Amino acid sequence: MSNGLGTIWEIPPHTKAKHEILRYYLGAWFPILASIHLRLLYVDGFAGPGEYKGGEDGSPIIALKVAQGHALKHKLTRKGMDLVFYFIEKEEARYQNLERKVAEFKPQLPSNFRIEPRHASFKEIFDSILSQIEEQNKQLAPSFVFIDPFGPTGFPMSLINRLAQQPRSEVLITFNYQSLNEWFLQDPRKYKYLDELYGSDVWRRALQIADPDQKEEYLMNAYQKALESLGWKGLPFRMVNKQNQTQYYLFFATRSWRGMLAMKQAMWNAAPTGDFQYFDLIDPQQQHLFDKELYDEEYCKELANQLYLSYRGQNIEKPALIENDVAWHPICIGRHLTRALRILEYESTPPRITNVELPSGRGRRRMTYAEDCIITFAP
Ligand SMILES: C[S@@+](CC[C@H](N)C(=O)[O-])C[C@H]1O[C@@H](n2cnc3c(N)ncnc32)[C@H](O)[C@@H]1O
Repeated sequence: MSNGLGTIWEIPPHTKAKHEILRYYLGAWFPILASIHLRLLYVDGFAGPGEYKGGEDGSPIIALKVAQGHALKHKLTRKGMDLVFYFIEKEEARYQNLERKVAEFKPQLPSNFRIEPRHASFKEIFDSILSQIEEQNKQLAPSFVFIDPFGPTGFPMSLINRLAQQPRSEVLITFNYQSLNEWFLQDPRKYKYLDELYGSDVWRRALQIADPDQKEEYLMNAYQKALESLGWKGLPFRMVNKQNQTQYYLFFATRSWRGMLAMKQAMWNAAPTGDFQYFDLIDPQQQHLFDKELYDEEYCKELANQLYLSYRGQNIEKPALIENDVAWHPICIGRHLTRALRILEYESTPPRITNVELPSGRGRRRMTYAEDCIITFAP
């Protein structure tokens, strides 16, 4: 059996953290898209056996449970709705286990949930899914593709590029930096895999970088840029253990500001629990902690400054701030916006927000910012 783990293995803490993020994100993704589209595609490209030794669910079962148990399930089961799950696993024994787990759960699922388990490689199956779409000149249904391999092979940039051509696609990739660094950078016979991973030889510059932190930063930035050059916006989330060693990165790439906001919320939600802390890559030298209140206030102040500089003298609707300034911000989520607005309105002298108005003359409660409010920034 590959990588010596056997068919199923003990769940490591960093996998629990990843599952928490996946669970939270899908809880947002399914209903957001199901309210607009009648077909959704969820692809788990490196699906695993569907369970762990302690009985914990694997990622395919997590996705099914989120969709099945969702409070907004009526959206996911409404007439004409087609929810398709591809679960792809290459190892025979793991695939068999996965099939069994899915079969156990199937009777509880609504009839419009279509499960397509595949015993093959991600590359083979996903290439064929995309080829069918491309040949017919059609568009892929809105898709979330989860790529969760042990190492850095099996998901070449050429394939990711074809996914990125599909307008409503997004991807969450587990990028095992440790494995890349220890097993691939040291072995010239494996360089061709890195060319495939990055879609070019841009990674080779890292061979000249002696400082380990700088090397890691270079390689991760290069991967993010490669994803962004395909038309997505991407954020890397660095997952570290208590010794501050990188366990892996999660790269999320999307064109949807709602998707990016939901993913950051998922990260913030998972951050205070478990053995892991999440670091951002804005300033690797300072290594801002992603989950500490101390830094939270700093992010709010930075956001407040940024908003004032961008909008002084203007009237702006709050949804525009969320879409343009919060969603694509590398760290901030909705609650940082509320705090930033309070800083500008109540804690700045003179106040940098001079008026907050609600449409159709509704009254406003002090210190609140309704979703449809209009904010006037001081000149
Ligand atoms: C990290 S595990 C997946 C864990 C699973 N996503 C979860 O969270 O429960 C990676 C899985 O990918 C499988 N695998 C390895 N190479 C593959 C490939 N090229 N295509 C599909 N599956 C592959 C391995 O057998 C392993 O079960």
